[in-house]
This record gives sequence, C-alpha cells and structure tokens, in this order.
Amino acid sequence: MIVGIIGTGRIGAIHASNLSRHPAVSAIIVTDAIHAHAEHVAATYGADIASGPAELLESADAVVISAPADVHVELIELAVDHSVPALCEKPLAMNLADADRAVAIVSQGDVPVQIGFNRRFDPGYRQARDLVADGSLGMVTLVVGQHHDFELPDEEYIARSGGEFRDQLIHDFDILRFVTGREVVRVHAAGATRAFDWFAKFDDYAQTAVTLWLDDGTLAVLCGSRYDPVGYDVRMEVFGTKDSIAIGLGPRTPLRSVEPGVPPPVDPYTEWIPRFGGTYASEMDAFLAMVRNGEPNECTVEDARAALVIAEACTVSAREGRVVALEELA
Ligand SMILES: NC(=O)c1ccc[n+]([C@@H]2O[C@H](COP(=O)([O-])OP(=O)(O)OC[C@H]3O[C@@H](n4cnc5c(N)ncnc54)[C@H](O)[C@@H]3O)[C@@H](O)[C@H]2O)c1
Repeated sequence: MIVGIIGTGRIGAIHASNLSRHPAVSAIIVTDAIHAHAEHVAATYGADIASGPAELLESADAVVISAPADVHVELIELAVDHSVPALCEKPLAMNLADADRAVAIVSQGDVPVQIGFNRRFDPGYRQARDLVADGSLGMVTLVVGQHHDFELPDEEYIARSGGEFRDQLIHDFDILRFVTGREVVRVHAAGATRAFDWFAKFDDYAQTAVTLWLDDGTLAVLCGSRYDPVGYDVRMEVFGTKDSIAIGLGPRTPLRSVEPGVPPPVDPYTEWIPRFGGTYASEMDAFLAMVRNGEPNECTVEDARAALVIAEACTVSAREGRVVALEELA
C-alpha cells in the first residue's frame, strides 16, 4: 500500500515512523505547508514528497491527516472526494458546524474515516472498558480522570489549539465514553490560569476541572493542567460496587506519595511517547486493517463529534459559570 501523510509536524513524524515499519506499506508520500518539515520527515523515513494534498491523494491508497485541527474537515472532504480512506488526527473540527459537515460528508459516501483518539488502543484503558462491560466492577458509581502535561506549550500552539477543552481534555472526554460505554448528558466546567496568566490572552486556561453526568446517573470528574513539574500524568480511576480500578497508575506515574515508606516514582513519564507510544502503532495497525480487510472502524467521526460536543459544552459552562446540558448544543 502507498500511504500519504498530510502534515509532518510532531504527530505526523510519529505516524511516518510507524508506517515505515509496517509490513503492508510499500511507500510513504508526505506533504506539508512548510516544505522543510516534509523534507525532514521524508529524509528520515525514506518517503517521497508531494507538492500538496491533492497531488498526494492522486497516488495514495490511504492517507493520514496530521495537519492542525482547523484544516481537518477540508482535508477529510478532499480525501473522500478522491476515494482515499483517512486516519485524521483529533479533534475532528474546531466547532460543531464543521464537525457536522464532516459527519455528513463521511456518512454520505463509503470511504472510511478513522479519528486519532489513540488512547483507545492503550492496554490499560481497553482492560478497563472490558471490566466495565462484563460487570466485573459491579455498578459503576464514579469515574475520576487526570491529565497533566509536563512540557508547557508555547503561545503559538495555544493560539491555534482551540482551547484546553477542545485540545487537551478532549482525549479524556473520548476515553470516558469509551471506558464506560455511556453518553455524557450534562457538564459543569471551570478553568483557571494560576501561575500562567498568559493563557488569559487567548481566552484559555492552564488548569481545568469538569464534573460530568452520564446518562445512567454515574458521576465523573476530569481534571487537566498544562504544566506538571513532575511529569506527564494521565490516569483514570473507575469505582464500582464490586471493585475499583486505576488506569495509568504504576512505578512510572509522575506523582510523589508523601506517605512514610512509599518510594518515589522511578523514571517518571515526562513525555507522551513513553506513556502512549505503543498506542500510535496499534492505531495504525487498526486503520490499515480497516482499509485492507474491512475490519471495524475503531473511532468514527460520530465518536469524534460526541467528544467535541462535550468540549463545546465545557467551554460554554466555564465561561458562563453554569451547568450546561449537551442537548443545548447538539
Ligand atoms: N493523538 C495525539 O495524541 C496527538 C498528539 C499531538 C497532536 N495531535 C493532533 O495532531 C494535529 C497536529 O498536531 P502537531 O502537534 O503534530 O502539530 P505541529 O504544528 O507539530 O504539526 C502540524 C504540521 O502541519 C503542517 N500544516 C499546517 N497546515 C497545513 C496544511 N494546510 N496542509 C499541510 N500541512 C499543514 C505544519 O506546517 C506542521 O508541520 C492536531 O490536530 C493535534 O491536536 C494529536
């Protein structure tokens, strides 16, 4: 298979690395708005360079869209027009109108589009989903999630990111739906800019806390921050009437217990690649299996739209300081 990559920045380079090792991939073609980025990835992974997305799609059997979020929908449309199945990075879009357009484009045709919510391929989250689904936890009563980045993003990134809820916590919104198998019905979100006032310039937050109500009555609490000096800390706890479990809790968890005798973390995660690197390879395996063998789509545009609705509701809730029902937006 010939696989194209549109956008060869941070995540595009990771996808190129995984494609270069994949036995089903005979060639990679890349393109980027900044030619030097495409050249760098092409030289590193032995890829060809196309002059732009349209030229790339003329010769690709499948495409990875890893350009910024504000061009995802137009690139999905272009891929579907060329009948080229796509793996598109999260988030699906920057707003609901564009997300709806993407859902309409994809559902009208038969060109599969998978969205890159990579945590769905993490062994811990998958095990949690299975334990919830087979009743091992009993009735799920409470879910608590944490998402703390180690490296503070720069202003340029934040200016184009869409904000904390759409850019960062959207992973947590998606994985909450994935693990519980339930839909969010209401949210109450808050944000702060403690220690990093400059986030306010972009109407954004450096720390967030969200209470979410699921459609079966379960409560969830998700917290995020853009800077954690100890490391990259992504965890979830699921409490049930029979058992309680933790995802992402282990010797490398960047959280220092102050209880006597408890050792500090060993080599705590400071980047997302050591924590989630394997998920990008598994995500690519699933995408190529879907394209080649018609395997099920592991993350549809409808899933991505559902996560975006939660992010939009949180944005309204934090700004207006009130509980927001998702049906207000959907
Ligand atoms: N799934 C994940 O864990 C994960 C991790 C990081 C980023 N992402 C997502 O991937 C996307 C890209 O993020 P990134 O961190 O790699 O950004 P980045 O800025 O490092 O890379 C984006 C690249 O796209 C190029 N580009 C911009 N507009 C383009 C266009 N119209 N056509 C072709 N190329 C274009 C840029 O020049 C740049 O090289 C974002 O949507 C982000 O949310 C997902």
